[in-house]
Amino acid sequence: MSEGKDSPGRQSGPQLWTGRFTEATDAFVERFTASVHFDARLALYDIEGSKAHARMLADVGVLTAEEGRAIVDGLEAIREEIEAGRFEWSPRLEDVHMNIEHRLTERIGEAGKKLHTGRSRNDQVATDVRLFLRDAVDAIVGELRRFQRGLVDLAEREAETVMPGFTHMQVAQPVTFGHHMLAWYEMLERDAGRLEDCRRRLNQCPLGAAALAGTSFPVDREATAAALGFDGPTRNSLDSVSDRDFAIEFCAAGATVMTHLSRMAEELVLWTSPHFGFVELPDRFCTGSSIMPQKKNPDVAELVRGKAARVHGSLVTLLTLMKGQPLAYNRDNQEDKEPLFDAVDTVRDALTAFADMVPAMEVDRARCRAAARAGFATATDLADYLVCRGVAFRDAHAVVGRAVRYATDAGKDLAELELEELRQFSPAIGEDVYQVLTLEGSLAARDHVGGTAPAQVCRQVEAAKRRLG
Ligand code: ARG
Repeated sequence: MSEGKDSPGRQSGPQLWTGRFTEATDAFVERFTASVHFDARLALYDIEGSKAHARMLADVGVLTAEEGRAIVDGLEAIREEIEAGRFEWSPRLEDVHMNIEHRLTERIGEAGKKLHTGRSRNDQVATDVRLFLRDAVDAIVGELRRFQRGLVDLAEREAETVMPGFTHMQVAQPVTFGHHMLAWYEMLERDAGRLEDCRRRLNQCPLGAAALAGTSFPVDREATAAALGFDGPTRNSLDSVSDRDFAIEFCAAGATVMTHLSRMAEELVLWTSPHFGFVELPDRFCTGSSIMPQKKNPDVAELVRGKAARVHGSLVTLLTLMKGQPLAYNRDNQEDKEPLFDAVDTVRDALTAFADMVPAMEVDRARCRAAARAGFATATDLADYLVCRGVAFRDAHAVVGRAVRYATDAGKDLAELELEELRQFSPAIGEDVYQVLTLEGSLAARDHVGGTAPAQVCRQVEAAKRRLG
């Protein structure tokens, strides 16, 4: 439809609610209120919900068995039309629900007009979105777990690889590459928990709440809930049709996933730059420059970092959408779908990209090691050594600070200083100091739960593998 063509005042289309109205809907309003161009994505969930509703109506005697069967068969046939791409969606029929119901009546006649008994699009759409999101969460958690498995394998391969750990982006202390990968794993573990928690809460069935107050028909809400795999019916009809917490919760969990992925992405961008050169990403995940032949760009990582913005945006959109809405259903709620769909697609794709790419990267162990050696990463170990020899930590800190300044001027690492050079800063330093100044010594010393020692990394890898099953 081109801009301005259906200007206010012009009218078109068959009407869905002819009884109450004396003029047809304005053509612009029809276009403005239609949602089928995006909510058609809910079609198969809508059909499942309608089948469960029709079967229940037949079981409680509101419909005859024959009518129930005709509706279910008709809906099945429509599902096939949709899956085959033969279904014709009409914006005049406003949304996915009216399109399918209208087609049902076209196909099966009178019985089709009875499907909407005892329900409303308000409980219908709330049910559809929950069904959609339940599947989406399952798919997303699946990709997240796959990524975690990849990280655990990488951590196992690089359990002994030394790299610099950073604070303030300055070299701080040596860590193992495996330990760093397990830090990413932990972020994802919390994300999985949040998503699973969201799924638990969303798995309640609004059907039967009807428009807002429930229905005068003797509906069996437990039956429809069970048929659709919900844990049970929702408890309050007003809340059922107006609640979109599940969408907000998903976007909050998804936004946190994306924040985590963007942090990983940032590290990948740094690590693949020639200045770091810690890792190399497979060519198939990178792109070149149209002008600079030497370039190999980490575009996938950058895009994941950038796409975090979309999901954060969806979260804010949904929070703002719901803010200040009085009970019960308001048409505002139709605006929940596009941000939710976009968040679902973005989170899933970002996880797929990283699950494929990150475990396939190659670690340059020599570069990682050289970087850890270059930044006085074992200075804390020297201070700890002095403490063990009776020097108070604050004094030890000052001693090592002076030694680092001296080594910097001499262009050497602490481990490269002669014993006599080191002893000018403290007589407590002995021959055995070199054991703690080595990278391996520093790593091995941090051998406690959560520490970076290779032995601890291996232990955490085993525990993570058991959890992942
Ligand atoms: N398309 C609507 C939505 O997404 C369906 C519910 C419409 N209900 C109504 N009373 N207008 O929210």
